[in-house]
Amino acid sequence: MSVSIQLSTQGPLALSADVLVIAVSPGPVAKQEPVKSLDKTLPGLTKLISREEFKGERDQQFEIPTGGTLSFSRVVLLGTGQRGQLSNADFRTLSAKAARIANGCKAKSLALAFSENVTAEKLRYVTEGLVLGAYRFSKYYTGDRRPKTELGTVTVALGGRARIGKPHKVAVELGQKIAAAVSLARDLVNEPPNELYPAKLASEAQKMAKDANLKIQVFDNKEIEKRGMKLIVAVGQGSVHEPRFIHISYTPKRAKKKLVFVGKGLTFDSGGLCIKPAPGMGEMKSDMAGAANVIGLMAAVAAVKPNVEVHGIVASAENMPDGNAYRPGDVFGSLDGKTVEIINTDAEGRLVLADALAYARTIEPDVLIDNATLTGACVVALGKNCSGFFATTDRLGNQFANAAKDAGEQFWRLPLLDDQKDQLRSDIADLKHTGDRWGGAITAALFLREFVGNSPYIHADIAGPALADRAHGFYPKGGTGQGVLTFLRFVELFGAK
Ligand code: BES
Ligand code: MN
Ligand code: ZN
Repeated sequence: MSVSIQLSTQGPLALSADVLVIAVSPGPVAKQEPVKSLDKTLPGLTKLISREEFKGERDQQFEIPTGGTLSFSRVVLLGTGQRGQLSNADFRTLSAKAARIANGCKAKSLALAFSENVTAEKLRYVTEGLVLGAYRFSKYYTGDRRPKTELGTVTVALGGRARIGKPHKVAVELGQKIAAAVSLARDLVNEPPNELYPAKLASEAQKMAKDANLKIQVFDNKEIEKRGMKLIVAVGQGSVHEPRFIHISYTPKRAKKKLVFVGKGLTFDSGGLCIKPAPGMGEMKSDMAGAANVIGLMAAVAAVKPNVEVHGIVASAENMPDGNAYRPGDVFGSLDGKTVEIINTDAEGRLVLADALAYARTIEPDVLIDNATLTGACVVALGKNCSGFFATTDRLGNQFANAAKDAGEQFWRLPLLDDQKDQLRSDIADLKHTGDRWGGAITAALFLREFVGNSPYIHADIAGPALADRAHGFYPKGGTGQGVLTFLRFVELFGAK
């Protein structure tokens, strides 16, 4: 079900809903509106707030007992932890937390207020947060497990003397579409691997492209082979589910710039013959998160309509061990022409990406950006909630870091250390595809860089954040879609220049 967003210029206490959430900044809490007015309705509230030591710190929550005196069953104060003005990303995260609070107490309706005014500009991010916070993947529940209630309506108290107009309506609609795009990425990641194999991923991409009015091409295994993408074929040859290659394009008329995004689409990564240990193997259904992000991003781009040409490319396969599977020791050619000696069949992502990047660079992008759940080493380096990224120039690195910061997503730049390249020297082919244990995220990036030619290039390793083991920020447990909003921001900033 979708969340309907209503706007109000009334004070929040005049609204009615199952739950009222008020975002409160650190400082004299009881002096901030609307808490100040609330104190008049609920005498003693100020004392209670100070006794409970609610200080508006980040993630601090305080439920106010209303004793049935208000038109809400619950009123919850939510700390923003933000001393200055709230950023767009703060508005999004706080709104998501409010929606999670509402979902957590089975509310059908929510009223939301902030201690500063919600402008039309901010409303896009509030809407994104509300929808992303209410997100649940309940498709496979039956009977009692099916959610009985869902958050249906949210009323946002705009504050100040706002006059609700066209810009507000436009912002809510855009926020809804962007949140739907991120939710699509999450859904694809959460989908089990028996249901979502490469051909199915391609048909989901086709569905999206049709709805969003985007051009799409899908190559089956024969076409992939014919075009010389030998590495994609190699990775997929151990599975009964054949690979697919997807190319989605958004081509506005007067665009002067071109961006190409590439995603790793391993619908399941067993490791192949170098099979992974059983514990946690099921998480490798999320090894197509990079592809899911690209598909979600293209849906978001279609909604935002920036003045930049944007292409989304996905290389999808399933990595399985079987009689026909590729093996350590094999040597394959590639679309680029370089030959690659296989060392470990579990390093399959960089192989499918190598061919996808070689294809992508023929579109002659101003920037080529890939994202992939590529290495455990990146998770060791940065933890579960931060992606790594590599950039071929500092300028590009800064641009990408700024996009991530604006989007409120954690991405940390890692170095392309050229001296580690000798780890990729093969005795019998142009390249080995893995190095030694140390700096594994870096050698993977160095390998990929071999296939981008002269394109200005960013590689993002999203192995940690793609799948969350608990909800945090505006992310749910499970598939997060981390990256979609950063890439969208990158596109927006790139188009604005
Ligand atoms: N899909 C995995 C990386 C991964 C690990 C993603 C953990 C999410 C969580 C990738 O294909 C892989 O297996 N990488 C190997 C590379 C190694 C064999 C060089 C790794 O990181 O161990
Ligand atoms: Mn692998
Ligand atoms: Zn993988």
